[in-house]
This record gives sequence, structure tokens and C-alpha cells, in this order.
Amino acid sequence: MSHAIAVLPGDGIGPEITAPTLELLNELGDFTFSEHPFGGASIDAHGTALTDETLAACRASDSVLLAAVGGPKWDTTDPSAPRPEQGLLGLRKELGLFANLRPVRPVPALYDSSALKREVLDGTDLLVVRELTGGIYFGEKTRTDTDASDLCHYTVAEVDRIARVAFDAARKRRNLVHSVDKANVLETSRQWRQVVHEVHGADFSDVELRDQLVDSCAMELIARPTQFDVIVTENLFGDILSDAAAMLSGSLGMLPSASVGNPDGPGLFEPVHGSAPDIAGQGVANPLAMFLSAAMMLRHGLDLETEATAIETAVDGALADGLRTKDLGGDATTAQALDAVRGRLA
Ligand code: NAD
Ligand code: IPM
Ligand code: MN
Repeated sequence: MSHAIAVLPGDGIGPEITAPTLELLNELGDFTFSEHPFGGASIDAHGTALTDETLAACRASDSVLLAAVGGPKWDTTDPSAPRPEQGLLGLRKELGLFANLRPVRPVPALYDSSALKREVLDGTDLLVVRELTGGIYFGEKTRTDTDASDLCHYTVAEVDRIARVAFDAARKRRNLVHSVDKANVLETSRQWRQVVHEVHGADFSDVELRDQLVDSCAMELIARPTQFDVIVTENLFGDILSDAAAMLSGSLGMLPSASVGNPDGPGLFEPVHGSAPDIAGQGVANPLAMFLSAAMMLRHGLDLETEATAIETAVDGALADGLRTKDLGGDATTAQALDAVRGRLA
């Protein structure tokens, strides 16, 4: 049976890291890829970042594989102008993908690529569970000549369901959840904390739960990353903390993600990084976060565990053999990274 994958290459380095990823997937199984304009590319072609056709194609697929959107061409402070990022937020919301899983497990071969010391990194294996369809990203926005506002809003049901995803994930890992909030200041955070504790008490008391304020969490992630197993947090905090956590693995170009939560539709799989306009078009982007996102798609979206592990093992092997793109301190090109990983596929 062929798996139908909606592919959204997007902007900047997006197309450059998409093409090798599809080549890699073709080594592993029978996939039907359909590519669709998205983000800035879609604004240029159709005036909007997410067309009805692209959304319908995503809905009809088994999984959606996305590279990255955005870039200086579409950067604007005009609230009425279309933005590439609106396409991404719209897609997550329309597909009902409220849970974003961002695993961070630095491989020993890359310890020296990180700004942190080897002994700080050793043993780090954490999962950021980021709430993805609520909070300040989706609240009402206002703008006048003299002021502007973004509303942060969460319902109890939204917090309840993301808490369950985090506790379930912890049960399959090391049974520890840090719930990260700003409950010393924000009302949404105080309710978040209360709901997380209620869910914990009712159904997950076998899992250890710790509360952590987001500012000190940012510090602890860098100082003592091995203390974390699962971190569950709201949309904006999760966005920021996961980029910080990416540096534990040596580069933002290493971190994959899976957006899930709707059992009746496809998941969305994408790197944590953006369109890297500063290096776009040079053929030097690190495709590994995209390869690893494809692995997450195989595992979480298509139930192809063996194939998912094959990609992850090949990436680890290639890195152990010395593969280093520019962001990791080397000079391997995107094409050489594909060759190195493809050559290690079992
Ligand atoms: P970015 O993640 O694109 O880049 C940050 C830095 O990391 C840059 O120096 C870049 O060269 C480097 N980098 C990122 N990915 C890399 C890779 N695979 N290989 C090598 N180096 C890599 O963040 P930014 O520059 O702040 O944002 C650029 C654009 O991307 C913005 O328009 C932003 O909105 C968008 N963005 C999109 C997504 C997404 O589509 N999921 C995520 C984040 C940012
Ligand atoms: C991410 C990105 C997006 C986000 C942007 C591009 C809308 O930074 O996926 O982390 O903030 O969610
Ligand atoms: Mn981000």
C-alpha cells in the first residue's frame, strides 16, 4: 500500500532540505508525494499562505511533511498584509494538531559541536510537549495607531488534553513531567497549574509531577538538562524553550518535531528550525532535522517503526563517521549529508 504524503517545501532552505528527504524516504518504502505551495511561496502564487486546495490536499493525505516557511521578502509590520507564518498556524489549527512533540537527545558524536560542556550534555534525553493551537498565538489581536494587544486565552479542556499527552509520554519514558508555567504572574498559568494537577491526581498519580517557572526552566535547561524527562508547556513558552533546547544537540538544524492530536486526520511533521534565509540557496543547509522529522512521521503518522529507526540509526552512524554540515562546524553540503545518511541505511 502506498502512503500518501502531502509535502510542503515552503520557503528559504525548505525546498533544499525537502528534496533529499523525499529521496531518503523512497529508499524505505512506497510513498506517493504530492507537493503544494505553502507559506511565502503560496503568497507569491496565490496571495495567501494557505490556500483551500493545499488545506484540502493535506486533509486528504496520510501525513503532512513540512520543511519551513517565512523570510525577509514577506516580513512586514503591516497587520493587514499576508504572512507565511499564518499558513503554518492555520494548518495546525485546521488539522486539530494541539500537541507538538519536540524530542531532544544529543548524540555523543556532536557533544563538541555544542556550546555546552560534554559533562553537562551527557545523558540528556528530554521531550518538550508544546501546546500548539491555543494561547497567545490564537487569541484576539488588536492594533491601533497608539496601541496593540495579543490576548492569551486557554480553556480547561485545552490544558487537560495536553496534560494527558505529556503524562502518557512520560509513562513510556522515565515517568517524570515538569509542567512549565508563569503562575507567579499569569492567570492562564495559574489555571494551567491547577488543571495539570487535577489531571495528575485523577489519572496519573504514578507519574512524578514537578512545577517549574518558565524563566528558571530556561536556566535549568542550559545548566542541568539531564534532570528533565518530559516538559509540558503552553504554546509560546514551548516555542522559545525548544529553540534553547535545540542547542543541546549542537544545532537548531538537528531538531525534529511531530504535531499530533487528531486521531481522525493526518499529523504534521516538521523541523523545529525555520527557513534560514541567511544560508538559503547555497546548498549547505543541514537536512538532518528534516530527515529526523520524516522518521517521526514514519513512527507517529504511519506506524512504520522499523523504517523510522532505520533513519535515526543512519543519522547517528553518519554523525559518528564524522558528517558535519556548516552549522555543526564542518563543511559537508546538503547533498553530502544525504549521501552519508543514505549510505548508512541498513
Ligand atoms: P531560523 O530557524 O530560520 O534560523 C536561525 C539560525 O539557525 C540561522 O542562522 C540559520 O542559518 C540557522 N539554521 C536553522 N536551520 C538550519 C539548518 N537546517 N541548517 C543550518 N543552519 C540552520 O530562524 P529565524 O532566522 O529566526 O527565522 C527565519 C524565518 O523562518 C522567519 O520568517 C520565521 O518566522 C521562520 N520560521 C519558520 C518556522 C517553520 O516554518 N516551522 C520555524 C521557525 C522560524
Ligand atoms: C515554530 C515556529 C513557528 C511557531 C512560527 C514560524 C509560526 O517558530 O514552529 O517553532 O512560532 O510556532
Ligand atoms: Mn519556533
